[in-house]
Amino acid sequence: MGFFDFLKQNNTEQVTLDFSSLGVDMHSHLIPGIDDGSKTLEESIVLITELNKLGFNKIITTPHIMSDYYRNTPDIILRGRDTIREELHKQNINIEFDAAAEYYYDEYFLDLLKEKKIIAINNEYLLFELSYLTKPTGIKELIFEIQLKGYKPLLAHPERYPFLRLDEYQELKEAGCLFQMNILSATGHYGSHAKINAELLIENQLVDFLATDLHHFQHIRLIRKNAMHTEKLLQLVTFNDLKNKSLL
Ligand SMILES: [Fe+2]
Repeated sequence: MGFFDFLKQNNTEQVTLDFSSLGVDMHSHLIPGIDDGSKTLEESIVLITELNKLGFNKIITTPHIMSDYYRNTPDIILRGRDTIREELHKQNINIEFDAAAEYYYDEYFLDLLKEKKIIAINNEYLLFELSYLTKPTGIKELIFEIQLKGYKPLLAHPERYPFLRLDEYQELKEAGCLFQMNILSATGHYGSHAKINAELLIENQLVDFLATDLHHFQHIRLIRKNAMHTEKLLQLVTFNDLKNKSLL
């Protein structure tokens, strides 16, 4: 069975996407109450069940760490992960669940990096995000610093930064930065600019991971409703060498 097998078409709207070839969703906000994602344990369990229905059988959730808003620590995140694991077990929901973080590039992140107080995906990929508004300085130095600490830098949703162009994407790639694209970017959910950039990244085979960046149920609805109609996504999961499965 290939990517995006549309297995069940119960009626004109209900199409079940199959993400099982990706296997792992490695960017989401599912630990309740610690960032702008899920608000309750109950909501988290519903969202995890929905991801499972989409075909993911492992979830690595990535709460925000951001000095001004979300000063989450590895301890807070891992405690949240354990609570969810217990609840999944209680409810007999068979899905692997782990946690890391999504670091916002600010002074606080640089301090944490210096002290190596980091929680990375599979202890390997350090997921970080940039401001959407202004191009930060020192991105290449940051990439170098992350590598020096023994992690692989993984930029979250590179398509969503309006200030990045193809030559800059390529430069970041050459510096050793990996790219994680959001599924909904290619559908136009984050605006036309993110969609155009997503297509550019797909065309140039620059995407390493594809993920939901799931915050709430509306994202699930939009993935079901729109992602399957997005040809570029089919192209991405079929012809690009995505690394999601390496996290199994
Ligand atoms: Fe995110």
